[in-house]
Amino acid sequence: MHMDEQWKKMISSGRLEERNVISIESVDSTNTLAMKKGRQGAVTGTLVIAETQSKGRGRLGKTWESPTGAGLYFSIILRPKLLPADLPKITLGAGLAVCKAIERETGLSPGLKWPNDILLKNRKCGGILTETDTMATTGPAMVVLGIGLNITTPEEAFSGSLAERATSLLAASGRIFSRSALLTAIVQEVEEVVARMEEDDFPEILAEWRERDGIKGKEISCVEVGGRVVSGISLGPDENGVLHVQDSAGSVHQVLSGDINLASK
Ligand code: BTN
Repeated sequence: MHMDEQWKKMISSGRLEERNVISIESVDSTNTLAMKKGRQGAVTGTLVIAETQSKGRGRLGKTWESPTGAGLYFSIILRPKLLPADLPKITLGAGLAVCKAIERETGLSPGLKWPNDILLKNRKCGGILTETDTMATTGPAMVVLGIGLNITTPEEAFSGSLAERATSLLAASGRIFSRSALLTAIVQEVEEVVARMEEDDFPEILAEWRERDGIKGKEISCVEVGGRVVSGISLGPDENGVLHVQDSAGSVHQVLSGDINLASK
């Protein structure tokens, strides 16, 4: 396993700059562990990070493949000062934060696929799973922001339907990047975007998100959580983070949550 010096230092000291880090070799899911630690009182901003996950989770019950040391698999404990109705927007904000961190650290230009995919060359290299603590009764709700980023995974290593759709920074660019530098940049950008959201800056965040929208104007089909299928041209998310899709008859449908596929794939 390749471990750069900064990474070793972070693991041994339990700190990433001024932030608390709980690092573990192997865990079922960093989101599950972060939720548990957060409920036990772990401070806001604590990172929970693993070298591998045995049950890494994606949205909509999917699995997040987490080969040892080949990517970043971590969760951040947040207690944002936001209204419950605004919490879903954190996923969009976090997607933007991950994109900006990758841009800053690597010079690559990742795109976003609503609501939470990070794309390189039209393949997914990263994703975000936001979970809210439904058991909290007082104070701001705890949010666990789980981020997975494939860094050195070879494309052949992705199984099943992912084989055609997933990539890593190395596979897409031919270059190897420092995991700790990417982690630091992502955490900084996430903190910045959450602070901006707390200051009601979502319209500007959304504008920056739209500049990176990788499916806008493309033919998509979306399977909503209830099973309804909406097909048409993606118009992008609105000011509430809801995706608009225009069908062939010209009607615009609002998609709150679902799985998006490009029609050509
Ligand atoms: C998705 O694309 O559907 C979301 C993927 C989120 C994966 C990350 S890896 C770290 C954290 N722990 C998990 O179990 N999932 C998230």
